[in-house]
Amino acid sequence: MAKAYPTVSEDYLKAVDKAKRKLRGLIAEKNCAPLMLRLAWHSAGTFDVTTKTGGPFGTMKCPAELAHGANAGLDIAVRLLEPIKEQFPILSYADFYQLAGVVAVEVTGGPDVPFHPGREDKPEPPPEGRLPDATQGCDHLRQVFSTQMGLSDQDIVALSGGHTLGRCHKDRSGFEGAWTANPLIFDNSYFKELLSGEKEGLLQLPSDKALLSDPSFRPLVEKYAADEDAFFADYAEAHLKLSELGEAAAKKAYPSCHTVPCEYFETAFQAVESCVADRAVLPLENSLGGSIHRNYDLLLRHRKLHIVGEVRLAVRHCLLANQGIKIENLRSAMSHPQALAQCEQTLTKLGIEHREAVDDTAGAAKLIAEQRLQDTGAVASSLAAELYGLNILAENIQDDTDNVTRFMMLAREPIIPRTDKPFKTSIVFSLEEGPGQLFKALAVFALRKINLTKMESRPHKERPLRVADDNCSAPLKHFDYLFYVDLEASMADPNTQNALGNLKEFATFLRVLGSYPTDVSEA
Ligand code: HEM
Repeated sequence: MAKAYPTVSEDYLKAVDKAKRKLRGLIAEKNCAPLMLRLAWHSAGTFDVTTKTGGPFGTMKCPAELAHGANAGLDIAVRLLEPIKEQFPILSYADFYQLAGVVAVEVTGGPDVPFHPGREDKPEPPPEGRLPDATQGCDHLRQVFSTQMGLSDQDIVALSGGHTLGRCHKDRSGFEGAWTANPLIFDNSYFKELLSGEKEGLLQLPSDKALLSDPSFRPLVEKYAADEDAFFADYAEAHLKLSELGEAAAKKAYPSCHTVPCEYFETAFQAVESCVADRAVLPLENSLGGSIHRNYDLLLRHRKLHIVGEVRLAVRHCLLANQGIKIENLRSAMSHPQALAQCEQTLTKLGIEHREAVDDTAGAAKLIAEQRLQDTGAVASSLAAELYGLNILAENIQDDTDNVTRFMMLAREPIIPRTDKPFKTSIVFSLEEGPGQLFKALAVFALRKINLTKMESRPHKERPLRVADDNCSAPLKHFDYLFYVDLEASMADPNTQNALGNLKEFATFLRVLGSYPTDVSEA
């Protein structure tokens, strides 16, 4: 996963290490690995990808969350952990509870789940009702794990294997009994038992049995029953994802950064240049709307900045309005033109006829709130609703569910390119006019088997237009173009350096905008 994790201090890392040892001791002494795993999972499993609320942020210690019906018994886990937590005030509860889950899997013989510290505690617990109901089937599991949390079918089956540990308690859930004969050993016996049918003394919840009836889930159950290594590999991946739910865009790249919202794209460039911010996270292109040309132009102008990373993020638009306004009151929708275009059909279906384009989505929300507009709604994020006190009238209103925006991260210093993981290099160049010039430029890469993932041409701002003389046979007008190209290659690779050296021989201008890790994680 090309994810940049937050930097924590040496002292914090030492505390993580020490807390890990203490947790191993506690779990061995109290045989409480199942309870600790359930605590970590119930903490993270409340994440809602649409509203970006809930998730592994330490709120389980709040009495309100412990009182949720699904969490019965977890007060015991919180109580058991408290004496250790007190020894490590530097650690967030968010990190500490997730660490307990990772240690629980490890000490019972399960896979090593990577642990990255840096989660921050949130003050507010999520609303009740986000965790799965054991009496329901596959549709419900997909609703909770996929629609709400943003996880995959494979994650659902692998994570259900967590029931290889522990048991149900009548006084907590209404169910009684363990799933396997050895509930303190983390292995693949949950899947073996599930396939071999119900047995005296062991339990299968309706939500466990549901995995057998679904054409996508069942092959995975069979695979994990037959191959424990495959289960461990997928489980570790799914557990890691679960424990890191809730990081997006700037937060996805820099989870514990302090964010500085900027009204205009240019302000974000300036903020990094003038050291007000260390990084700018800016949208570059969208899978439906295409390139955000303004940022290409700004990239060229702010020549001291370098692209140091990219992040792909699924777009989820909401329709926002002032309190008390209903959809039927709205005549107009206001937002960035791309956001309006992405929701065109849905807005029309909702009976909203007019569109008002403004510079950015959050700006639309702000304006509607400030001017208390009654007949205009904003197409913006749920975060904008929270910021400006607007009501969310509809969620996920984009016409196409496959709507992904690619953001770039800018910094004052370039990062050192590497070759041990996928890297991209973004360049911009211009060429002499004439037939075959672009072909020649692209051949530089083709000959060296360097793949291009993106190409964009923009008129050259400084010499935009060349008007022909009065000779009628001369071509009429020429634009000088700049070509922006993304290469699937690292600047650390001599092959890339040779290609660019070759291009430099005939390009009239060439600049490397940055060489950075490719975002290979799910959008
Ligand atoms: C798929 C949806 C799930 C449902 C409907 C479900 C439901 C339940 C129920 C009803 C219990 C019994 C609680 C009690 O009576 O003490 C339980 C226990 C447990 N669950 Fe789940 N669970 C689900 C997913 C998971 C996941 C994803 C994990 C971890 C990766 C997990 C780990 C555990 C563990 C370890 C216990 C045993 C706790 C103990 O022994 O105290 N469960 N689950």
